[in-house]
Amino acid sequence: MARKDTPKADDSVEQRTDGSGSTVPESMTQSDSGTTPLLDESFDMDGRSTVADSDAIIESRDLNVFYDETRALDGVDIQIPDNCVTALIGPSGCGKSTFLRCINRMNDLIDSAGVDGELLFDGKNVYDDDVDPVALRRKIGMVFQSPNPFPKSIYDNVAFGLEVQDMDVDVDETVHSALERAALLEEVEDQLDSSGLDLSGGQQQRLCIARAIAPDPDVILMDEPASALDPVATSKIEDLIEDLAEEYTVVIVTHNMQQAARISDKTAVFLTGGELVEFDDTDKIFENPEHDRVEDYITGKFG
Ligand SMILES: Nc1ncnc2c1ncn2[C@@H]1O[C@H](COP(=O)(O)OP(=O)(O)O)[C@@H](O)[C@H]1O
Ligand SMILES: [Mg+2]
Repeated sequence: MARKDTPKADDSVEQRTDGSGSTVPESMTQSDSGTTPLLDESFDMDGRSTVADSDAIIESRDLNVFYDETRALDGVDIQIPDNCVTALIGPSGCGKSTFLRCINRMNDLIDSAGVDGELLFDGKNVYDDDVDPVALRRKIGMVFQSPNPFPKSIYDNVAFGLEVQDMDVDVDETVHSALERAALLEEVEDQLDSSGLDLSGGQQQRLCIARAIAPDPDVILMDEPASALDPVATSKIEDLIEDLAEEYTVVIVTHNMQQAARISDKTAVFLTGGELVEFDDTDKIFENPEHDRVEDYITGKFG
């Protein structure tokens, strides 16, 4: 199908909340005034390469987050490697979503959230004054627990991020390619003009993944992306995540330990109080963790 027009990031896209308190379209469009866009070039200049000797694309240093008086993360240090799947696991309320939201500054949208410490993306602290969160979120896309397509056509859902970022790309080709990479094109090829909301839950989630990868990010963050889906749809998403890891760095929160064991290369175990207790190869975490508390959690003694 031939489309020349691109969708407008208009006000008719209502703000949608995903249950974790994040406001999706606003996050893709809201920009702090007075900041310099975080363009590709900015990563080649000042402040980068502090992790030049490591493979880490994301690194946190003594990262602490509070919501007013409530501590959500306690001095988290982690180095997340490039081009693999890293799972974040741990009991409910231990700070997994909070950590994920620090990576692309979605916590900025929560008034009570205060962040200190460093969160480096490709060696650059994303909390530096000269980082534009909107540009950052083009490089670090996000997929939420409940599929949240916009009330727009399938085509316009995927094209949305390209328009917001004012990207100079062939929109038609980019939309098709993103749908293909999200393993959805075959199923929707003949209905690109119909509403994204008419798809099944699993298809909607793959549409959201297509929307996240269309602007060609480096990292995709996923917060329990399959927990609202049935087993067949879940298995499709899991296969897709493994494929995506060939091109992207994927960081995924899951409460499903079997899922973490199946799809991830690295696993980070957070425990109550927002402490990162152990981070290692997934096999090591599940077969022979260093910490008794991690073993107790993995074997279901608590959590
Ligand atoms: N928007 C928020 N406002 C206030 N407290 C929050 C908010 N989001 C999370 N918290 C609190 O921060 C802690 C960590 O939450 P969260 O990161 O959602 O954990 P998880 O994803 O591991 O379940 C919890 O105590 C939770 O109640
Ligand atoms: Mg969570």
